[in-house]
Amino acid sequence: MALRDTVRARIAEAQQIAVLTGAGMSAESGVPTFRDAQSGFWAQFDPQDLATEDAFRAHPERVWDWYAQRREALSGVSPNAGHLATAAFAQRHPGRLTLITQNVDGLHQRAGSTNAIALHGSITEDRWLDAPRGCCGATPIEPGQPPRCGVCGNLRRPAVVWFGERLPQSSLDRAQAAAHACDLMLVVGTSGVVYPAAGLALTAHQSGARVVIVNPEPTDLDLVADACLREPAAQCLPFLLLDPA
Ligand code: OAD
Repeated sequence: MALRDTVRARIAEAQQIAVLTGAGMSAESGVPTFRDAQSGFWAQFDPQDLATEDAFRAHPERVWDWYAQRREALSGVSPNAGHLATAAFAQRHPGRLTLITQNVDGLHQRAGSTNAIALHGSITEDRWLDAPRGCCGATPIEPGQPPRCGVCGNLRRPAVVWFGERLPQSSLDRAQAAAHACDLMLVVGTSGVVYPAAGLALTAHQSGARVVIVNPEPTDLDLVADACLREPAAQCLPFLLLDPA
């Protein structure tokens, strides 16, 4: 039996499945990853210049523009067969699959995964940079790059988690609970170098779950994997998650 057939059978018998996704999940939709040596965002830009609170405070226009460009690019792409298969499985098997994503692109949600745990926030939303005062939002937000409170100048910022920031505690709690409780975790399209997200695979492994990696390249999490399927997500996930026609 080929490895992918074995994994498919394990998924069919698993009671609780956690799926942890990263940028590679959206690669076949045309969204760049972060660490690809040629096309990755962090091959072209220094994350310290674009993905930290200090960078935003120092150069709010530059950081806002970069996120605005990414938002614009996302409006032209669609969920791929991997996003759709994940959503379809969850709909067909209520309560069996918990989706945890590091992606901020909203493609899982657009594919129909309404309960996805978005560990790193959402690029389509923004929030106040500093704790809002009474004026913030009470009067119209002044448009700009970035928009700001017309009274106190508090800035709107992308509602994503930047380097050095804590993950939303409720999302992390839910993700950790799923990692503890699952009997199988699929780790799809992530290099596994960013914590605490990558630690979820270690938690699943330590809690006795089977860990299956779906990634054309080796990852830092292969050490804890029971199986590594070296395939692209949009090809592999429909095979693993959808019933044969
Ligand atoms: P990375 O860019 O670090 O890793 C992407 C992974 O996807 C690599 O392991 C690729 O081999 C794999 N990959 C590429 N194409 C694929 C495909 N078609 N199918 C499956 N896998 C494929 O992205 P992440 O691991 O998501 O943080 O990065 C983690 C975090 O670092 C991101 O959430 C982001 C970034 O800085 C924040 O935005 C806070």
